[in-house]
Amino acid sequence: MDRLVIDGGVPLNGDVHIDGAKNASLPALAAGLLAEQGDVILENVPRVVDIRTMCRFLKHMGAEVEENEESVRIRSRELNRLEAPYDLVRTMRASILVLGPLLARYGYAKVSFPGGCAIGARPVNLHLDGFKAMGASINLQGGYIEARASRLKGAEIDLEMATVTGTENLMMGAALAEGSTRIRNAAREPEIVDLADLLNAMGARISGAGSSRIEIQGVTRLVGATHRIVPDRIETATYAAAAAITGGDLTLRGVRAEHLASMLKKLSESGVKVEPGPDHLRISSQGPLQSVDVITAPYPGFPTDVQAQFMALMCVADGTSRIQETVFENRFMHVAELRRMGADIRYRGSLARIRGVDGLEGAPVMATDLRASASLVLAGLVARGTTLVNRIYHLDRGYCRIEEKLSRVGARIRREKA
Ligand code: EPZ
Repeated sequence: MDRLVIDGGVPLNGDVHIDGAKNASLPALAAGLLAEQGDVILENVPRVVDIRTMCRFLKHMGAEVEENEESVRIRSRELNRLEAPYDLVRTMRASILVLGPLLARYGYAKVSFPGGCAIGARPVNLHLDGFKAMGASINLQGGYIEARASRLKGAEIDLEMATVTGTENLMMGAALAEGSTRIRNAAREPEIVDLADLLNAMGARISGAGSSRIEIQGVTRLVGATHRIVPDRIETATYAAAAAITGGDLTLRGVRAEHLASMLKKLSESGVKVEPGPDHLRISSQGPLQSVDVITAPYPGFPTDVQAQFMALMCVADGTSRIQETVFENRFMHVAELRRMGADIRYRGSLARIRGVDGLEGAPVMATDLRASASLVLAGLVARGTTLVNRIYHLDRGYCRIEEKLSRVGARIRREKA
């Protein structure tokens, strides 16, 4: 398994190109199954492992998928498998996103029941309840979800929690349902808006995406379209944190700064200079970081996917900060590893208290999940000495060539084949 070797202490300076959003590309690829004719062409798709996994999965079902440098073309005339096998779903929970498209277009889907993951139990009950409300019959057998519907029917769906992939799954199912569907307490993430834009370009009739109330008028068929994937706001936040923690000055290119307003507000409060532009964002350190408190929340609140990265920042800030994780039940896996580097963090339940220290010490650490891995890289960039981040396959799932992007702005970082 590969690992990253980082010699910390270098302020990062220069430009970083931000890729398209992994979490917008995954539902968009699944939406490719909905097109009865024509190609779905997705531009600005990031070259990360999860995207390759999803493309392999679509091919497994019989879709034609062509991956180019920064775009993917999907053609799904006739599928020969309507099944998402266990050995695939267990490596990527987002495979559940094919449930809506398969049900809507073929009236049948058999998807391995996604297990939990490092950060939590990750149930999918809200997805299934929504499809039942739309008339699907759902059987759970042998670890598989088997869903059937002659044709989904429009329904009123009140989501108990603003689930991101749940909203996406149900929106894709409702796009071809008979009649209209209203989803209340819908997730409001920019990735939801991006998916709705793609579906509408394919002939769907969706309004309200981005608000907590989405209306979908079902249509009888969807066709191919070309769509540019929205920039990755979590990657943007990660490199913004890299500028802040190293005392550097980075300009992030190809971004939508308005998609991470809540995090940028906290960065400003911690003393970092934030200068957003039409498609770029300049982050420059103005001296020592000040500690600030954070509570994660669904969009537009502070993203849970940035919690680990921000905690790394607070480890070397002046004062004490508190970080409350409200979205997932076990998203402090990075704490033990940061403590190995000299961080002073205590947590009980979902509340962590971080006392800033005057510096971290490089050490061998273990990546456990995607965003925890990013947090360890950030800590390594500021730590004295050498940090070895092991099991970086977690990192490769959501970050494209992180060591190349960081080296280009001055970081002493390299990948080692372990
Ligand atoms: C999406 O996961 C993202 N993944 C996650 O990003 C992100 O952390 C999460 O949204 C929250 O923003 C993708 O978009 C592929 P949820 P998702 O359903 O949709 C509970 C990353 O790092 N819930 O919004 O699975 C759930 O347990 C990944 O890129 C139910 O109870 O998250 C959680 O507590 C990690 N029942 C809360 O809702 C359900 O049926 C939010 O989960 C569904 C969710």
